[in-house]
Amino acid sequence: MSKNVLIVGAGTMGHGIAEVCALSGYNVILVDINENILSNAIARITWSLKKLEEKKRIKSADEVLGRIETAQELSSVASKADFVIEAVVEKTGVKHEIFKVLDEKCKEDCILSTNTSTIPITEIARATGRADRVVGLHFFNPPTLIRLVEIIRGEKTSDSTVEATKEFAKSIGMDYVMVEKDVPGFLINRINIRVFVEAIRLLEEGFKPEEIDSAIRYRAGLPMGIFEVVDFTGVDTVYNVLKEVKARGFEVEVPEILERMVEEKSLGMKTGKGFYTYRSFYDRAKIPKEYQYKVNPLQILAPGINEAAWLLRNDIAVKEDIDKATVKGMAYPRGILDFADSYGIDRVVEILKSRKSKTGLKEYEVDPLLQQLIDEGKLGKKTGEGFHRWSYELEDFGPVRYEKRHNYALITMRRPEKLNALNEEMWNGLNRAFLKAQEDDEVRVTVITGEGRAFCAGDDIAVMGSWKDLKDGVDFFEKVALPFVNTLAYYEKPIVSLVNGNAFGGGMEINLFFDVVISAENATFSIPEGLIGAIPPIASSFGYMLFGRKIARYALTGEVLSAREAMDLGLVDVVVPEDMLMDVGIEFVDRLAAVAPLSSKAIKRSMNAVRDVMKSAMEIAAREIELLIPTADFAEGMDAFISRRRPVWKGR
Ligand code: NAI
Repeated sequence: MSKNVLIVGAGTMGHGIAEVCALSGYNVILVDINENILSNAIARITWSLKKLEEKKRIKSADEVLGRIETAQELSSVASKADFVIEAVVEKTGVKHEIFKVLDEKCKEDCILSTNTSTIPITEIARATGRADRVVGLHFFNPPTLIRLVEIIRGEKTSDSTVEATKEFAKSIGMDYVMVEKDVPGFLINRINIRVFVEAIRLLEEGFKPEEIDSAIRYRAGLPMGIFEVVDFTGVDTVYNVLKEVKARGFEVEVPEILERMVEEKSLGMKTGKGFYTYRSFYDRAKIPKEYQYKVNPLQILAPGINEAAWLLRNDIAVKEDIDKATVKGMAYPRGILDFADSYGIDRVVEILKSRKSKTGLKEYEVDPLLQQLIDEGKLGKKTGEGFHRWSYELEDFGPVRYEKRHNYALITMRRPEKLNALNEEMWNGLNRAFLKAQEDDEVRVTVITGEGRAFCAGDDIAVMGSWKDLKDGVDFFEKVALPFVNTLAYYEKPIVSLVNGNAFGGGMEINLFFDVVISAENATFSIPEGLIGAIPPIASSFGYMLFGRKIARYALTGEVLSAREAMDLGLVDVVVPEDMLMDVGIEFVDRLAAVAPLSSKAIKRSMNAVRDVMKSAMEIAAREIELLIPTADFAEGMDAFISRRRPVWKGR
């Protein structure tokens, strides 16, 4: 004989929960005081079951429907229940009335669970004489789609009640997270509120909802923007939850915008206007992808990460559950703690501190757990441990630092005092670091950047100036520069370049081999070799194939390009504010790692083959530069550069 689940309240949540339970084979008794609501609930469940039947996901809708009975008189059906889920209006008084009846009429061992979002479980349990068997069982809307519940332990909830509730959740096909203490907002709403309020603060500071949601959707990878979700849920619903949790001690300033919107009845999709305007209920907000770099999504997530740290530090939830809750309950593409570890705990704290000093609001105070992680050097993927552990390796190849950070390698040119110019050690170091990254199967993406204010100033002119004859130059190219150029030309993993500052000469040219070039707004690019009697060999050959005659101007004049001009040329893919550079790089690593490893390799190999067709042009360019070395132009150019004067040559 299957068991009976009693669901009290047949509104938005109650009818969905009833469907889930009936689908799992339970007999459901659905109670509501309102007859209309009950018949509506049955109509909605029928519609949904028929859809499942059409899609052949279930055999018979009628069979499932046959397991649901409705009632208006709670006291007459309560005794049949084996498990109760209360989902009536969010009013303590009403819930107390119902729990009194349940306590009186239900079997002694029957568990009474509540779907409340904001009322403490402990407070609801007080209406009963069985507080040990009262528990929070918090579903999300719609329960038929969001297959996760929060199980909340009230002050008196017993272990056996918690265990039985876990079993019950599993039996209706729900995954669960445990909330060990009865705190306002439990787990998910606490994090959601932080993220949402931060989005509103940005709005107050002048950003548009589209700009904020664009960053969240296209960079953080959430399926819906923050404001889209709120418009869907209802601005009033969110406002009420906020006010309620605040009244219960959750530290938050309720944004004025929300109050105004509720007054004006701008409640979201249901009124046709919320943060966006909707022509019909099926209309969706338009979020242009072009806006994605206006706001840093990490800024929006940082207060949520701070809240997650609070939950962890206070033993309210475990790490795995926090990540599970964000993925399964909030549709994040990965757990919020995982996000924190990817961007770096130091970045999260930096952002919180700057928000604190800008707004003076207490809610930005850095949680001691985050500070502790920083003090212990646990910054996330960049140090091998943050909230979680990650594989990590560090090796210096001369001036080139190699760091394996879980699934990517970060290669940093570290000769900042020489603007990371390419001397022999730098060329060799880069080659070895790139090869090491290529050999490690765990490394999916290779990222390169420069330390200090320059990306790379190109060949070290002091080295070039020291060449006495053709042989010195030929040797240098063939033994030092070419091996790295070859490694890049045949590299089989995606390469992301983070151009943090000026990229000149060879420093600009190596970018022609990289797959995604992200540039800081203030970086500049140039290939000024002709000005010193040499040539940019990669740009003049391979670059011509990539960009056509557009590059001729820059190769022939040595003119400096701004980051935007480099983007127009086609060399740079994305231009971002300097402080966002690494964050955006990390987002790209994620996207590149989403492609199957073998596909990624095959794509790279195919592209490298196209490059191979250009080999003869590159060889000619290399030969050209070698031929220049013994000329008077070259000698004059080098000398002029070193003595900081204008070179003099024919026709100038
Ligand atoms: P709702 O307003 O759609 O449904 C509440 C139902 O309770 C109504 O049908 C009402 O007639 C019925 N009701 C009122 N007094 C009753 C009584 N004495 N006996 C039997 N039925 C009674 O509300 P909704 O949205 O379904 O919320 C229900 C509960 O679920 C609330 O505690 C809410 O905080 C919680 N919740 C709501 C979520 C949502 O997204 N709507 C998500 C998660 C939890």
